[in-house]
Amino acid sequence: MALSVLSVASEAYPLVKTGGLGDVVGALPAALAPHGVDVTTFLPGYPRVLAALEDSGAPLHRWPDLLGAPAQLLEGELAGHRLLVLDAPGYFAREGGPYGDPAGRDWDDNWRRFAAFARAAADVAGGAVAGERHDVLHAHDWQSGLAPAYLRFAPPAEDAPRTVMTIHNIAFQGRYDVGIFASLALPAHAFAVDGVEYYGGVGYLKAGLESADAITTVSPTYAREILSPDFGMGLEGLIRTRQRRVSGIVNGIDTAVWSPAADTSLPARYDATTLGRRAANKRAVEQAFALDPGDGPIFCVVSRLTWQKGMDVLADAIPALVERGGRLALLGSGDAWLEQAFRDAAERFPGQVGVRLGYDEALSHLLQAGSDAILIPSRFEPCGLTQLYGLAYGCVPVVARTGGLADTVIHANAAALAAGVATGIQFDTVTYESLAGAIALATDLYADAARWEQIQRAGMAADFSWATSGRRYAQLYRELLAA
Ligand code: ADP
Ligand code: GLC
Repeated sequence: MALSVLSVASEAYPLVKTGGLGDVVGALPAALAPHGVDVTTFLPGYPRVLAALEDSGAPLHRWPDLLGAPAQLLEGELAGHRLLVLDAPGYFAREGGPYGDPAGRDWDDNWRRFAAFARAAADVAGGAVAGERHDVLHAHDWQSGLAPAYLRFAPPAEDAPRTVMTIHNIAFQGRYDVGIFASLALPAHAFAVDGVEYYGGVGYLKAGLESADAITTVSPTYAREILSPDFGMGLEGLIRTRQRRVSGIVNGIDTAVWSPAADTSLPARYDATTLGRRAANKRAVEQAFALDPGDGPIFCVVSRLTWQKGMDVLADAIPALVERGGRLALLGSGDAWLEQAFRDAAERFPGQVGVRLGYDEALSHLLQAGSDAILIPSRFEPCGLTQLYGLAYGCVPVVARTGGLADTVIHANAAALAAGVATGIQFDTVTYESLAGAIALATDLYADAARWEQIQRAGMAADFSWATSGRRYAQLYRELLAA
């Protein structure tokens, strides 16, 4: 019999996405179906999610008072798989993003919004909703972190489902003042070191990590890195204590969305045997970013503009990149001072540096299909998806050797080049010197067209589909149920 999983998250592509979390949650149902796992995705009822529900019928359940506001459960579809939505206008019927107002400020009541969401998820998976029952509740990131804690400390029925807590980004922890505890409707004993207590307050991700039957993160290297204070960000002690339950499962890419041979958003489609067709896409990138036409390499960036992503170091390295004959096409949004730094660079190097501030899904595809290389100088990167899209699109990744970037790119050293297995360039520390060195290496390699094509082809031949990782999640669920 198929195993049933409730995948609980604050984002799922194509309905709501601010980063890789959305991509992964959106891809999981199709990734797991071949392994006998039925995934139902559970999302907050943001306006865009509700608008996408077609005739969802009568609510499956009503909560007259879900931690302070009424809510109901609606049913729909997400790319052919089952979707459940928590319709709670008091929490989610707002203009802006999933976490903040249109100006980007976090909502003051995020603690209550995502506590309510987690409580509802625990009810749905745990048997409080007639006709609804799931073998496993799979929680993603802090927004869902309280769900395993509710199942542990306040289960709606006996025989609670097994729980998995996945860390996509440990930097966001959902840490709040102790004063909110009384409003969470948890028993007093849940406020404990091995419960939801976190440095004197309440920690949502911490609660999930402490309560879940298994912990996963999105690459093997990152699973090791978070055992250390540099990467664990305060949670390393807990993770070390529970190390036996921690595993790293690398993200795949959704080839239905990311495949250069089938990507209808591109001026020219291509595969590894028709790389010459990328030229038309490169021209389109030049136009979209007002770059001077030329034969030199175009480096692109598709990123949140934050410290995590090393965007300050990238801004410093722009003169070196231009000096080397490279051009830069950057698409991103994030911290105001970084946005300003890139605006300044575009003004200083017209025709060499083009910047588009904002979020644009179609443009992100064009950049991968038309640029020669993608720069990813992250200080930490649990998995990273843009290097995987780069590999699939023949846009050679130039990446910091950390987390999932270390696990998915094969560095073009002499041996890897000679063996024909190199797929990109890695550098060790996120400093100006090493990034500038990596850019220099990329421009040198690019100058040898045959060699560059070999790197592109090796990347395009690599398998980053969900096949292997889907099987690993399925295995993990089965192990938990057998335990
Ligand atoms: P993270 O989740 O830490 O931001 P990932 O590399 O895992 O990093 O995922 C980022 C996702 O968001 C990718 O799908 C990437 O293409 C997309 N993305 C990031 N910034 C933008 C942007 N400005 N416009 C369009 N897509 C973007
Ligand atoms: C996070 C991480 C990123 C990862 C994504 C999906 O946002 O920063 O590295 O790829 O989640 O797991």
